Amino acid sequence: MPKIEWDDSFSVGVVEIDEQHRRWIEIINELHDSIMDKDISAETTNRILHEMIEYANFHFAFEEDYMGKINYIDLKKHHYQHEFFSKNLVAKLQEERAGGLLRNSDVMRILMSWLQKHILEEDKKFCA
Ligand SMILES: [Fe+2]
Ligand SMILES: [Fe+2]
Repeated sequence: MPKIEWDDSFSVGVVEIDEQHRRWIEIINELHDSIMDKDISAETTNRILHEMIEYANFHFAFEEDYMGKINYIDLKKHHYQHEFFSKNLVAKLQEERAGGLLRNSDVMRILMSWLQKHILEEDKKFCA
């Protein structure tokens, strides 16, 4: 599975949000490597997973606050998309890890493609 490479096509035109996306992509790539590498301990992978969850939550709150300030009309819809990531996708990955399916790449692939698509299609809408 290819990692996400940040390039200018990801830029939404808001410096702080671009920086946060870069950092999030770095962490999600690190998580991907950790899950795929059998020499990396489950504890380390779980630590990175928690870091990714915390960063995603911080970023979602930042974006939703920003959308509120600019009176973005689809804030609620966007909020539900963020919630889907946290409550469905991340929860699925955690369940799989708890169930011992440590190297299932399918859920990781879904997480990564959600992130790419969300930045390119959804975050760009409120930053435009
Ligand atoms: Fe975002
Ligand atoms: Fe977003």
